[in-house]
Amino acid sequence: MRAVAVYPSKHEVRVIDHPEPRITSATQARMRVFDVGVCGTDRDIVSFQFGTPPEGSDYLIIGHESLSEVVDVGAQVSKVKPGDLVVMTVRRPCPHPSCVACRQGRQDFCYTGDFTERGIKQSHGYMTEFVVEEERYLHVVPRELRDVAVLVEPLTIAEKSLEQIWTVQSRLPWDRQHRAVVLGAGPVGILGAMALNVEGFDVSVYSRSPNHAEKNPILDAIGVRYIAAETHSTEEMAKMVGPIDVVYEATGASGVAFDVLKHLGPNAVFVFTGVPGHHGPIPVDTDEIMRNMVLNNQLVLGSVNAPPQAFQSAIQHLGVFAERWPDALRSVITGRFPIEHALDALKNQPGGVKNVVAISEG
Ligand code: BGC
Ligand code: ZN
Repeated sequence: MRAVAVYPSKHEVRVIDHPEPRITSATQARMRVFDVGVCGTDRDIVSFQFGTPPEGSDYLIIGHESLSEVVDVGAQVSKVKPGDLVVMTVRRPCPHPSCVACRQGRQDFCYTGDFTERGIKQSHGYMTEFVVEEERYLHVVPRELRDVAVLVEPLTIAEKSLEQIWTVQSRLPWDRQHRAVVLGAGPVGILGAMALNVEGFDVSVYSRSPNHAEKNPILDAIGVRYIAAETHSTEEMAKMVGPIDVVYEATGASGVAFDVLKHLGPNAVFVFTGVPGHHGPIPVDTDEIMRNMVLNNQLVLGSVNAPPQAFQSAIQHLGVFAERWPDALRSVITGRFPIEHALDALKNQPGGVKNVVAISEG
């Protein structure tokens, strides 16, 4: 079968022929892959800055944002049946008995770093025709969401962040509508803005460009405020928004993020989700940040990957988005490419939001 593979040692990326996987245990299912989304992590992998092939392989099949259809199931599978649409999780647990996180199915909090991630770290991904997986890593998606369900995985980043926000902010007496600022208007930012809006936050999106033909209509439709970093400093943004309760960072631009950190409101929580490349040190007013943080009980947290319950919340939220903003949600997907043109999907499309490699129709 065809698969998109990266050869880190040869600095090559191409469509290869890879053996079709077979079911080898009674608790596995075999899927035909429909859609695979492309994100910054994939772009880093195909530019050889990130990503590790499985033990003994000189290549890694990429792709971790998927939608597929179950075609076969092992004898003990009860959660899915042939014909079901499913989204697969990304991270698999480390093998160490001492890792309480992985032993409890919370490999998103793995202590040892010996987890694997499909399409990213030591495990082949989903940008191929067929995939076999244990049923516990599958999440069934309603048929009505066929067109947009490839957005479930990028939405899980926001869902885990929300879970973390509710958990840590249970330290506070919260008695009013909360103000959230989303940094970045890429797919993770847009989906995060939708989720925060549905959860009742007053949402503002702060992003580079003053005018973006594809993104602004989406943000208009969901009714969130858009503030352009090119025309408004972080200070002006903070004045326009009012005391900020939550920042959901979805750009990986550390300079902007640390600038915004100076303008948090009382008791605020700042969630980092972007993974910046290394661009060298920049000056930051650490006294000001530390002073504000202490005097305002502020909290900064990083969040990576997502647990099964975040996939469940993402599927549920996506259904709500599809009802409230059907056109805006569909227009988050700006490019669909056949597998032969997967390399074009991996290039940064000017103006594009989410590129998808459409492997099979159905
Ligand atoms: C994926 C996560 C993964 C992270 C780091 C992200 O793009 O969505 O599942 O943990 O990359 O590898
Ligand atoms: Zn991703």
